[in-house]
Amino acid sequence: MAFIWTTAFRSRWFVLMVILCLSTVCSVTGQARYSVPEEQTEGSFVGNIAKDLGLDVSRLISGKARIITKGSRQYVDLNRDKGMLVIKERIDREELCGKTTPCSFSFEVILENPIQLYRVTVEVTDVNDNSPVFPKEEIYLKIVESVASGTRFALESADDPDVGINDIQKYTLKPSDHFRLEVQNQPDGGQFIEMVLKTPLDREKDESHTLILIASDGGTPQRSGTARIQITVLDANDNAPVCGNSVYKADVRENSPEGTVVTTVSATDADKGINGEVTFSIAHVAKEAKKLFEVNDKSGEIKVTGKIDFEKSKTYQLNVQASDHGGYTDTCKVIIQVIDVNDNSPTIQLMSFSNTIPEDSPPGTTIAVVNVDDEDSEGNGVVKCSINSDVPFKIVSSLSGYYTIVTDDTIDRENIPEYNITITVSDQGSPPLSSSKTINVKVSDVNDSPPKFDESEYTKTVSENNSPGFSVFAVSATDADSGQNARISYLLEEREINGVALSSLVSVNSNSGVIVAVKSFDYEQIKSFVFNVTARDAGSPPLSSVATIKIMIQDQNDNAPQVLYPVQTGGSLVAEMVPRSADVGYLVTKVVAVDVDSGQNAWLSYKLQKATDRALFEVGLQNGEVRTIRQVTDKDAVKQRLTVIVEDNGQPSRSATVIVNVAVADSFPEVLSEFTDFTHDKEYNENLTFYLVLALAVVSFLFITCVVVIISVKIYRWRQSRILYHSNLPVIPYYPPRYSDTLGTGTLPHVYNYEVCRTTDSRKSDCKFGRAGSQNVLIMDPSSTGTMQRIQSEKSILDEPDSPLEVSFLPVMMCN
Ligand SMILES: *[C@@H]1O[C@H](CO)[C@@H](O)[C@H](O)[C@H]1NC(C)=O
Repeated sequence: MAFIWTTAFRSRWFVLMVILCLSTVCSVTGQARYSVPEEQTEGSFVGNIAKDLGLDVSRLISGKARIITKGSRQYVDLNRDKGMLVIKERIDREELCGKTTPCSFSFEVILENPIQLYRVTVEVTDVNDNSPVFPKEEIYLKIVESVASGTRFALESADDPDVGINDIQKYTLKPSDHFRLEVQNQPDGGQFIEMVLKTPLDREKDESHTLILIASDGGTPQRSGTARIQITVLDANDNAPVCGNSVYKADVRENSPEGTVVTTVSATDADKGINGEVTFSIAHVAKEAKKLFEVNDKSGEIKVTGKIDFEKSKTYQLNVQASDHGGYTDTCKVIIQVIDVNDNSPTIQLMSFSNTIPEDSPPGTTIAVVNVDDEDSEGNGVVKCSINSDVPFKIVSSLSGYYTIVTDDTIDRENIPEYNITITVSDQGSPPLSSSKTINVKVSDVNDSPPKFDESEYTKTVSENNSPGFSVFAVSATDADSGQNARISYLLEEREINGVALSSLVSVNSNSGVIVAVKSFDYEQIKSFVFNVTARDAGSPPLSSVATIKIMIQDQNDNAPQVLYPVQTGGSLVAEMVPRSADVGYLVTKVVAVDVDSGQNAWLSYKLQKATDRALFEVGLQNGEVRTIRQVTDKDAVKQRLTVIVEDNGQPSRSATVIVNVAVADSFPEVLSEFTDFTHDKEYNENLTFYLVLALAVVSFLFITCVVVIISVKIYRWRQSRILYHSNLPVIPYYPPRYSDTLGTGTLPHVYNYEVCRTTDSRKSDCKFGRAGSQNVLIMDPSSTGTMQRIQSEKSILDEPDSPLEVSFLPVMMCN
């Protein structure tokens, strides 16, 4: 403030002085001119003002010479004692004048007593004291590498406050391999600097460039200023991606799951940033491979996306295209080798097969030809073929891949009618795969089994008196064969039994085997018979077998007992004589009866049913003997009449009654007189006349008949005598030939009494029985296979041996 104030004061004072001077006598009396370089130190000599103005130093002193400056700054001072002007304050030309040339300043030197005013002008000359300076020391430029040569880039020029030669004279650029400088002087005196691209930039080679721009002046010494130009080369998409390998090889197992990484392709792009980003894609590939693989567009990973099948293709080639965003591409070839995995089961194919085989096929008969195959390769495709071991077949290899199944043994349909043959094939992979097929072989029948009866012998019992057509039973045979070979028919043997054809006794149903009685059997005629039935199958040739059938006929109580003695006559009287002297137990007579049935049915018992005097007689229950049970007295009536009932033991029992007349007398006339009444008692007495006439006729007829018969019998006997044993036996009882066989031995194990009776027309003939046993004589009868029995008994009376006879036999119980 002080300075400002002082200056103001001085100015005011100076102005006052000048006005005063001008209004009076004041005038400029001389002037001087000097030149000094700038930047002189304080006190430096400027000029000898005293001498130049022609003034004496003393005048200067007396005149109190001093400098008056109009400006605020006083660069020059006056040394009054020496009369010299010196630098009072450093002068900066650039500050004083800027770019103006020439540069000078003026001031007045004023003297008093008298006032004298002198003008002094000082020219300041330039000294090269400033260097060129760029506005920015660092210049940053970003240039796309793709710019063309000749492109210009404007640069800011440098500044040098000095003037003239000391001002900027020259610009240079280092290094100058890519750029050159062009400097144009502008009308305003400035300079326009441009950098021109000489050769193209390549970011991939040099990402940045540093240039030094130098501005030099012309001073001495020369001064210069620099600016650093930092050039960043911007990327242009000028590079194609490049695959890491031109060919990638990879292996992949077939059936690898989806997502399995096969390989990774890579590619590089020299460009930067987005220009250097590479994406991958699969181009130009077979359709099927496209479905199997995919490439990750960023990472280049190739993955499995489908089912890889070695059997379809063993290699794949993918062309993976690597591309950047600028459309540059490269192609990486990927060769993928598929590794076989044992994923295919072997297959079995029946080439030919006969599903039925006759059971008589010899070992080695071919049944089937199979073809086995495996799609896998090497060990995975090597197959082994086998069949189950529990069948009589074997498998033999014929051609490669072909197998034949043949019989290994004889086969029997009746034993095993069908076989399941399981063919198994397995490969040698790890793990091995296998498959199997079952074929069903049926064994066809051959008629090799004869029919077989349930039993080889059948024994059946049939009650007599059966109805004709009665089914006795059914034979049954089975045949292990099948179909026609097992269709059995039953045949009856052709033979005769007892002179009759078997077929008249029984028949057999050829289909059912039911044996039917053709007629009603009579035990009394035939007790059993044996025959054969043949079972024959319908095979070709037929096979047959035979069963023996024995039919036993069972007795029925179909015959009532027949009383043989005493003979029951119509009108005549037969009486047993009992002497009055007879003791107790006297055998009056014996009732003899037979029953043609057998067994219990022929077991007879005798009972007294009615009697004149029940107290006098009894009948032996078993033997039919009529005996007295008390002493006969004179009081007893001559005529005694007993009714005896004979019952068999059958169910129900049958019976017969017989009337026994007993005469209790000592002489025959006595009897006669007594029995006269008897005859009159008879009912048939009324018809006596009729009977007498009838008897006469019968006797006459019999006489003639007897004559004829005797002659015939004589001839017959004459012929028989030549064969027979010399016996005068007049009667040959006839027994059924098989009779003895019913007992199984051919002999008679029991003792029987046989009573042989011949009934004639004579009512008076006696019946005779004998105690047989040792007395029996067996005679071979050549006309019969059976035995004949001759009965000898002291009581037998065989009269009229040639008359028709009836022979019966009966067992008599040996009770007593
Ligand atoms: C054979 O296989 C069939 C069907 O599985 C079966 O019905 C039959 O019983 C088998 N036969 C034999 C003899 O195993």
